[in-house]
Amino acid sequence: MVTYTEIKSRIEEVLDSYNANGLAPAKFTVEKKGSSTEIKFDCFGADMYDLSKILLSPLDDVKTSTSCSSLLHKTDNIDIWLHSMMGNGISYAKKGEEFLPEELESVIEAYKTANPLVDENPEKKLANFGVHVYQPDEMFSWDYIAGYEDVKEKIKDSIILCLKHPEVYADIAKGTRKVFESNKPNAMLFEGEPGTGKTTMARVIASEVDVPLIYVPVESIMTKWYGESERNLAGIFDVAHNMGNSILFLDEIDSLAASRDGNMHEATRRVLSVLLRKIDGFESNDKTLMIGATNRKNDLDAALLSRFDQSILFRLPLVDERLEIFKNYAKQLSLEDLQSVAKSTEGMSGRNIKDICEQAERTFAAAVIQNRLDTGLPSLLFYMNSIKQKWLIFQNFYNFRINVWVNIWIDHVVMHANAWEICTNTFNIKCFCAF
Ligand SMILES: Nc1ncnc2c1ncn2[C@@H]1O[C@H](COP(=O)(O)OP(=O)(O)O)[C@@H](O)[C@H]1O
Ligand SMILES: [Mg+2]
Repeated sequence: MVTYTEIKSRIEEVLDSYNANGLAPAKFTVEKKGSSTEIKFDCFGADMYDLSKILLSPLDDVKTSTSCSSLLHKTDNIDIWLHSMMGNGISYAKKGEEFLPEELESVIEAYKTANPLVDENPEKKLANFGVHVYQPDEMFSWDYIAGYEDVKEKIKDSIILCLKHPEVYADIAKGTRKVFESNKPNAMLFEGEPGTGKTTMARVIASEVDVPLIYVPVESIMTKWYGESERNLAGIFDVAHNMGNSILFLDEIDSLAASRDGNMHEATRRVLSVLLRKIDGFESNDKTLMIGATNRKNDLDAALLSRFDQSILFRLPLVDERLEIFKNYAKQLSLEDLQSVAKSTEGMSGRNIKDICEQAERTFAAAVIQNRLDTGLPSLLFYMNSIKQKWLIFQNFYNFRINVWVNIWIDHVVMHANAWEICTNTFNIKCFCAF
């Protein structure tokens, strides 16, 4: 039999070998819980199939194997619990203070399988969390995003230069500071309505700097299981940290970290405190950067906001920008046609415009296939129809109608104001009333 102290020293031995390899070991603890001893560890890259093979072999008399979220295996002596839907925590509970040597070794082997020493495939580990890694892709060049020239300039100045020429920034900091500290930005906030190009811009940045983009959707972190959300978050940050040069993109960061004022849910409070700690520890590499995206900046916790070096606003596109976006997705249209579609889409995002263009293409293709039209490319009519459909499904359809009406009315008044030289005051009052 292996006693409680022997179990602890064997586990410390394993953790030391992780430290020696320069890796942050996944959590691995041994605790007395009432009359039982519990060994518990996190599995960041675990494939449950591989793990269950190890678990089964030395524990011959395994009797049950139930659903994935609770009891995994049960023998006369030992219960094995899985603490996650995605397999990132396992515990072994046994009555008394002793384990059989083969039981202990089987636990250690499972830990090693779940957290391989040589970090061969961090992408696989991240995939287990539901996180996707995008490799740099030439397609995502600056031109992929139409308009937003001021935003692009800001990003080039504040992000790209630092990531491409870290040595220049480091030399300056060496010359200016008593104690050297990196002056490179670690965390940026992208703020703006959904569909305004925040994720796409992150892909452009990653491709420009030639590093992978680790895209973390909020659902890969938040779960209903106690304590699991913060473990997921910590696990993702740890794998990203070990991966080195990369951009970590946390989407919908407001769902993780709404303001601590008011009635913040206990679980959110715990996630937020892990997030703050992890952002503080996530710098190190020259080419690492964290980007958080939100469309509710005002709801963000003040402590979190203070962690961002800079916030970049992605507004809804202005009329000229809408025209540029249409040019990207409907390049066959004449300038006059592009102006018409741009004018008719006020308040819409880049994504809405892309949807409109795709819808117009589909309708046109259906007409061609059914021989209602000759081959060619969709005309303005198809885009206008598609815009109309989009407005119909928009909740603020009525706002749009009022908006268009007001615009037409103002055009009309301006025309007459010019023609008949109506005095400016009267014109202002009329506009004011219209709004
Ligand atoms: N300025 C733009 N130019 C070209 N395409 C755009 C633009 N803004 C958004 N899009 C397109 O809309 C879609 C949604 O954009 P995305 O980056 O996911 O927005 P967000 O992350 O802000 O919700 C993408 O396919 C993107 O290519
Ligand atoms: Mg997005």
